[in-house]
Amino acid sequence: MAKGNWPKLILAAVLAFALGLALARAFQVAILASAPPPTSEGAQGDVVQTDRQETPSQPAGIRAGDRAADAQPASRDTSASSGKALFQQACATCHGIGSGDRIGPDLAGISARRERAWLIRAITVPDRLRLERDPITVELYDKFNRVDMPNLGLSEADAGDLIAYIDAATQVKLDAK
Ligand code: HEC
Repeated sequence: MAKGNWPKLILAAVLAFALGLALARAFQVAILASAPPPTSEGAQGDVVQTDRQETPSQPAGIRAGDRAADAQPASRDTSASSGKALFQQACATCHGIGSGDRIGPDLAGISARRERAWLIRAITVPDRLRLERDPITVELYDKFNRVDMPNLGLSEADAGDLIAYIDAATQVKLDAK
């Protein structure tokens, strides 16, 4: 091959690479744009859904998930109502509140069964509880087919909202009896 061709070859390689990057980017955008909106019931039991929660600070998406769901108790309390949106998006796949165990335990009345500090840790750092061999977590892990409660990257404030919502939803169940 003639020596003089090298610069051209390199240029061509660089261009091809740049084009590849641009294509990949365009693809990514297209995929993100076509992603379905978060379902509020999460009935598809699909762990993929939980991946979305790992990006913190996405209240817009979370609120969007809440749209169909305002006929219920939590609306009088803002903490409980943001907890509700988050619960439906991040937890409902695995947890019911008064509707029975799913992949994880039913959470109705959880505040009466567990200490608040433990609950907050169980929601924000479940993986750490497991590493510490926390006795409750170990027992639950065995009982629930050795499925790990995932660490969803939630803050303590998120956990507070979630607990407020779970408490409110528990109360609604109790009142209905
Ligand atoms: C992929 C399924 C899954 C998701 C999503 C999930 N959990 Fe869990 N959760 C579990 C499993 C399984 C357990 C029991 C085993 C364990 O603790 O590792 C559990 C345990 C718990 C416990 C302890 C229950 C008890 O009886 O003490 C709490 C509280 C809890 N989850 C809250 C939540 C909240 C709140 C969310 C949403 C932010 C959530 N979980 C999301 C599967 C899940």
